[in-house]
Amino acid sequence: MSGMSGMSGTVTRVAIIGAGDIFPAYAKGLRAFGHLELIAVADARADAARARAEAFGIRALTPAELLAGEADIVINLTPPAVHLAVGRQVLEAGKHLYTEKPLAASFDEGQVLMETAARAGRRIGCAPDTFLGGAGQAARALLDSGRLGRIVAGQACMMERGPDDWHPNPEFFYRPGAGPLMDMGVYYLTQLVQLLGPVRRVSGMAHTSWSPRQVPRGPRQGQHIAVETPSHVVAGLEFESGAFVTMSTSFDVWKHKSSPIELYGEQGSLLLPDPNEFGGGLQFCEQDGDWQDLAPRAFTGRLRGLGVAEMAWAITAGQPHRASGELALHVLEVMDATLRAAVQGGPVALSTRCERPAPLPPAFARQIACEVGA
Ligand SMILES: NC(=O)c1ccc[n+]([C@@H]2O[C@H](COP(=O)([O-])OP(=O)(O)OC[C@H]3O[C@@H](n4cnc5c(N)ncnc54)[C@H](O)[C@@H]3O)[C@@H](O)[C@H]2O)c1
Repeated sequence: MSGMSGMSGTVTRVAIIGAGDIFPAYAKGLRAFGHLELIAVADARADAARARAEAFGIRALTPAELLAGEADIVINLTPPAVHLAVGRQVLEAGKHLYTEKPLAASFDEGQVLMETAARAGRRIGCAPDTFLGGAGQAARALLDSGRLGRIVAGQACMMERGPDDWHPNPEFFYRPGAGPLMDMGVYYLTQLVQLLGPVRRVSGMAHTSWSPRQVPRGPRQGQHIAVETPSHVVAGLEFESGAFVTMSTSFDVWKHKSSPIELYGEQGSLLLPDPNEFGGGLQFCEQDGDWQDLAPRAFTGRLRGLGVAEMAWAITAGQPHRASGELALHVLEVMDATLRAAVQGGPVALSTRCERPAPLPPAFARQIACEVGA
């Protein structure tokens, strides 16, 4: 860790590998945090790194130069198929790794990445970090208050027509390591695990509605994409707490009217907003009373990088960080096991577990929220 920032002490130097579609959201989001300094970007495509570096006033390096440089945390924004290869290089270069989701393209690869971090004595942080946002933290506080009693059941729903019409390289969404479950279900599962704790057992059903699929509109309209992972996946999740949650994820549905996440407790119900956002509206009811609004807590804006900010803050304080490799590995196993359960036609017990990440402490919100005005 390097110099000092006005508000919160140590400044952590951050660099990014991967200058693709999501890069600007990180580069802008990270700027909100005064204790982070984005210093450089690298990409296998040198011209892509140069263009992003110019736009954001940082250095463009080769991946090797970036790994030999002075970054404390390297953020991996490459596609899932190379999360293991790139993540390993980061850890073996002695840097902490913060990687985009999923942790790796398969549970086996995720385990290798965790072992590499343990050997290197470095940390892994992993997206999604949206559960640290104002909506997830407000839901967590309500559940922990006991007002809704024990959560006995729930449902989660992420169904859309897929990213073919907006993403410049949509192929990777239909390959192992992505699909609606690994690419989007990961937000829902991470939110559920922070709220309910680890999953004990899963069942799954999965299919592919169209292969190849035709891009329905947008700049690549009419082109065909091979589908190499299921595009509609239904999971039955049994949590250690005893709660049963059903989750549907799909890239094959135009429209629906289901809530993103609903949780049903002994004493009432809770409706959560899209867990791909940091904020959003929440509602709850006690028994069969009227729905009431629940106000989100701090951090509700476009804050990609909140998990990096919390990780840097926790490293400086010598504490565990919340968007952790352990959480991400457990969620990756839930997804991997759901797809295996679908193939074998029966439930799969999980081998990993994780503690619920602790709620964001008031000290973090006090020091950091005043900088981002969230
Ligand atoms: N695009 C989004 O809206 C979005 C949102 C949230 C999370 N993500 C996640 O972010 C990650 C990247 O997604 P994206 O949409 O930016 O993808 P992208 O295809 O637009 O960009 C990926 C970049 O990684 C580079 N790259 C590939 N292999 C590399 C390697 N071995 N070394 C260095 N660079 C390499 C590519 O050249 C490309 O510039 C994925 O894990 C995705 O799930 C994307």
